[in-house]
Amino acid sequence: MGKTIIISNRLPVQLQIDNDEITAIPSVGGLATGMKSVHSGSDSLWIGWSGLTEEEIPKELDPKIDKALKDNGCSKVSLTSEEIDGFYYGFSNRTIWPLFHYFLEYAEFETDSWNTYKAVNQKFANAILEKADDDDVIWVHDYQLMLVPEMVKEKRPNTSIGFFLHIPFPSYEIFRTLPWRKEILRGLLGSDLIGFHTYDYERHFLSSVRRLLGLEVSFNEIHLEERVIKVDSFPMGIDYKKFSDAASKHEKNTADKQSELQRRLNIHKESTPDAKLILSIDRLDYSKGIAKRLNAFEYFLNKHPEYKEKVRLIILAVPSRSNVPQYQLLKKEIDELVGRINGEFATVSWTPIWYFYRSMPFENLIDLYTSSDIALLTPIRDGMNLVAKEYIATRTDKTGVLILSEMAGSANEMNESLLINPNNFDQISDALIQAIHMPKEEQIARNSILQKRLERYNVEKWANDFMKSLLEQRETTQKFISK
Ligand code: ADP
Ligand code: G6P
Repeated sequence: MGKTIIISNRLPVQLQIDNDEITAIPSVGGLATGMKSVHSGSDSLWIGWSGLTEEEIPKELDPKIDKALKDNGCSKVSLTSEEIDGFYYGFSNRTIWPLFHYFLEYAEFETDSWNTYKAVNQKFANAILEKADDDDVIWVHDYQLMLVPEMVKEKRPNTSIGFFLHIPFPSYEIFRTLPWRKEILRGLLGSDLIGFHTYDYERHFLSSVRRLLGLEVSFNEIHLEERVIKVDSFPMGIDYKKFSDAASKHEKNTADKQSELQRRLNIHKESTPDAKLILSIDRLDYSKGIAKRLNAFEYFLNKHPEYKEKVRLIILAVPSRSNVPQYQLLKKEIDELVGRINGEFATVSWTPIWYFYRSMPFENLIDLYTSSDIALLTPIRDGMNLVAKEYIATRTDKTGVLILSEMAGSANEMNESLLINPNNFDQISDALIQAIHMPKEEQIARNSILQKRLERYNVEKWANDFMKSLLEQRETTQKFISK
């Protein structure tokens, strides 16, 4: 086997140019944070978009940009602002993202952005073809690049290609509304192995393949001409050790080593030892249910006024896809909701919601995870939700309660958390009360099981399982051809 080529739209670092100086900042999102750990432990090459459009990179800085990426094991695909508009803000995030997260009413079906999506996928495929040798293994990631496998397979039939979808694959009834549904399926079927986070997403995909393409599907294998394509579920894990080590180190921080945030959180704890901190962390995305969560919190405070001044909700939302109108509207809605709820309930000594709209350095994420008594994660739909896993991994003394939406892929593996339906405010309110009063022994018992599972099925195991299955698939296909 040759080298591994990872390919995704978002690279693990985003480049910024400031006075001709180039800085690489870590990317946010499950794909980048998860794969980063896999990538740094191997000699793989990661191909993707740098975060800057062609117009934003002065010609003379191009070599510096390439060098900054090379230092991070990456190589760029250059995209113009027009391509980014049609491919990223357009087809990827105004068509596929809402559709695959069951927000059918947000999905736009525009031929122009579909055409740009195709052209940009071809650019990514060309970048692979330029760098890949026949014995390399190619691992394509996520919904922005669903046509790439077929484009590469056509030119390099002997190369092993794996594809992993980091978001849900919707049910056939939703998927079939897409005008280019067959092209998307054929694009994916260029792969030898197609992976999903859960068995349900896998089942939905197989059902679409059967019903829309009429292909023979036996168990989890698809027969296409002389090829056999395997479909399987691989729930993505986290870099468990990175989070648990950071949390242990964090606890030992002396006063002079503490971040401003850690100091403030400690002051809060000392001054109000009985008050509970409830944390939520997400990209600012409608699929994450942030607005509903705020409404549910308001409902809880109205229904149980005895908890006023006894709880505080921290909302950390990282800016995301802010050129897409639905995200701008959501930002406005959340700003207004936070303002209204704080205005309605705040007292001289208590603000019910602390709201941060920004990306935070890793240390600050750890500050928040380790200081919070409860994590409240209520996505309406979520492919996986790694934040839930990260919260549990940082609980070094095993206390803390996770309240998690059953609509998140991670809920399948986290039965010991308090699972809720994000649309059921009574259930969320009851879960908050159960969490506030949960005895320490019960918290420890639940989290011990969760931690063991997360430690075993970490991101390294996830990547190894996927790779092993891909290589086995290569052998199966070769046997099938030689029959
Ligand atoms: P998604 O991939 O949809 O964004 P996940 O929960 O799977 O959702 O992954 C989010 C990742 O982004 C996590 O690894 C989390 O640590 C990171 N992250 C989320 N919010 C922030 C933030 N404000 N600053 C830095 N990293 C963040
Ligand atoms: C999700 C998607 C990723 C994406 C990430 C951040 O995790 O599955 O593909 O990279 O969100 O979104 P962005 O649009 O900023 O890349």
